[in-house]
Parts: sequence; structure tokens; C-alpha cells
Amino acid sequence: MFEIVDKKVLAPNIKWIRVKAPLVTKNAKAGQFIVLRLHEKGERIPLTLFKWHKEDGTIELVFQEVGKTTYELGSYEPGDKIMDIVGPLGKPTHIENYGTAVVVSGGVGAPIGYAVTRALKEAGNHVVSIIGFRNKQYVILEDEFKKVSDELLITTDDGSYVRKGFTTDVLKEYLANGGKADYVFTVGPVIMMKLIADITKEHGIKTDASLNPIMVDGTGMCGACRVTVGGEIKFACVDGPDFDAHQVNFDELLTRLTEYREEERIAMDRYVK
Ligand code: FAD
Ligand code: FES
Repeated sequence: MFEIVDKKVLAPNIKWIRVKAPLVTKNAKAGQFIVLRLHEKGERIPLTLFKWHKEDGTIELVFQEVGKTTYELGSYEPGDKIMDIVGPLGKPTHIENYGTAVVVSGGVGAPIGYAVTRALKEAGNHVVSIIGFRNKQYVILEDEFKKVSDELLITTDDGSYVRKGFTTDVLKEYLANGGKADYVFTVGPVIMMKLIADITKEHGIKTDASLNPIMVDGTGMCGACRVTVGGEIKFACVDGPDFDAHQVNFDELLTRLTEYREEERIAMDRYVK
């Protein structure tokens, strides 16, 4: 059993928890995730490692309540225990000194973007972080990003904080104004990653996207997280989650992500009742 030792509400329906999971902390690296199961009857869901601390054996997770399991996890309080946590899973993000690295994160992709930003900074890159949120209420981790970025560009869809526009608008402007980018890493809504990949392809900038298709077991056994990359079938949980963004078939991925919407809705309705 894995005890929750601390909890905070970061934004409406976005929560941060710190959980005791000493074995996970031993080999954790930026870009990896865990799969958790709340109790015997629970489904398994992947959540990315935001931070990890070998000293006290705790990990930090940030999650958005979007369906039955994340809402149920959001109702857990310090002292409550999660039945299973497996990880770290997935290949770590490939980190090297590219020169100038731009990390584009959207919404609750920000925790993963943060872990990668920190690792790129530690590797000696000049790191530019672009983070986008729906509106001011949803802006999270601003201070955390400030500490690990050389430049931080924040945007909100409605302009209620800093500036108006999508992350795609910010990246376009940054490049149009002569901003340097030797490497781009993107994580967030699939549509955003698709559009970021389109921009960087035009500019010939190497780009990785962190994919989060429908992972179920997180171990390569169930086949649920299949994606097509460069015409080849890959499994996001074992071959990813990061892939060359210019090779990912985003249109197919966008269709796959809606496949279990009805089952998710039924599970949520049952939970609410
Ligand atoms: P939104 O608020 O809908 O969008 C956020 C920003 O994205 C916008 O402000 C905008 O700048 C940009 N954007 C959105 N749509 C467009 C568009 N059409 N064009 C251009 N830009 C756009 N979720 C968790 O809760 N916890 C996790 O640990 C977690 N792990 C993940 C791990 C991976 C590898 C990935 C890829 C995702 C993970 N997610 C996780 C979920 C993920 O980030 C989802 O995409 C998320 O549900 C969307 O967040 P949102 O609704 O807040 O985004
Ligand atoms: Fe089952 Fe990837 S989650 S194969």
C-alpha cells in the first residue's frame, strides 16, 4: 500500500499529491510514468512523475480530474492509501545538450514539461519554456518553471493572464522574431502536439512529442496504447511515451482517443451515483 502524505488543489479539478513509493524513486528519470490502481476493483491509470525524492522515498503527481478514477483519487486525503503503484515505466526522455531547447507544454501536460525542462537545463541547454492554459484559473506551476527555465513564455486561451493565444501562436511568434530552437519537446493535448509538430517540421527543428494514448496495463501486454510512428506500429507504454513528432500519425491517434469515451462515461455515471 502506498500512503498519500500531502495534497494540494492547484486549480479547479487539478490536484497535486505526494505519495510514499520508495522503490519508484530509485531509478526514476524525466519523462517516465507510473501506473496506479486505487483498490481491488479499480482500473489502472498512468500518471507521469512530476518530481521524485530519493531522500524520503516520495513521488509527486499532478493530475486532472477528468473521469471516474481521477475523481476518486482526488477524493483521497493524506493518510489514505493507494493499493498498487508500478513504475517507473516508459523510456526516459532522451536528454542531451542541444544548445537551445524549447519545451512547449499545454494544460496538465505541464508537470511532464516541467520534469523535462529541468533535465534539459541540468544538461546545459538554454531552455525556453512555453506553457499554455485555458485561462488564469488554470495556470499551474509558474514558479516551478521559472526556477528551471532561461526564458518563460506563458499564454492563456482567453488572455486572462499574461497574453492571449495558444502555445502554437507563441512558438510561431518566437521563431518569426528570430528565436533560436535546436530542439523542441512538446506535451499536452494531442491536437496541440500535432500543430506544434507541423510548425517545427516547416522549420526543420528536431521535435519529440510525449504521447499519452489509452494506456491500460502499461506493460506492453494489452495492446491498448498502439500508435503508428513512421508507418510502424508502436506501443506508447514500452516504446515511448516520447516519439519523433514528425513521424507520429496524429490523426489516427486523435480518433483512437475517443474510442472508450462511452465506457468512461458509464463508469463515471456509476461512480457519481
Ligand atoms: P486544455 O486546457 O484543453 O489545453 C491546454 C493548452 O493547450 C491551451 O491553453 C493551448 O495553449 C493548448 N491547446 C489546446 N488546444 C489547442 C489547439 N486546438 N491548438 C493549439 N493549442 C491548443 N494528465 C494528468 O492529469 N496527469 C498526468 O500525469 C498526465 N500525464 C500525461 C502524460 C503524458 C505523456 C501526456 C502526453 C499527457 C498526460 N496527461 C496527464 C494528460 C494530458 O496532458 C491531456 O492532454 C490533458 O487532459 C489536456 O489538458 P487540459 O484539458 O488541461 O488542456
Ligand atoms: Fe497495454 Fe501499452 S498499455 S500495451
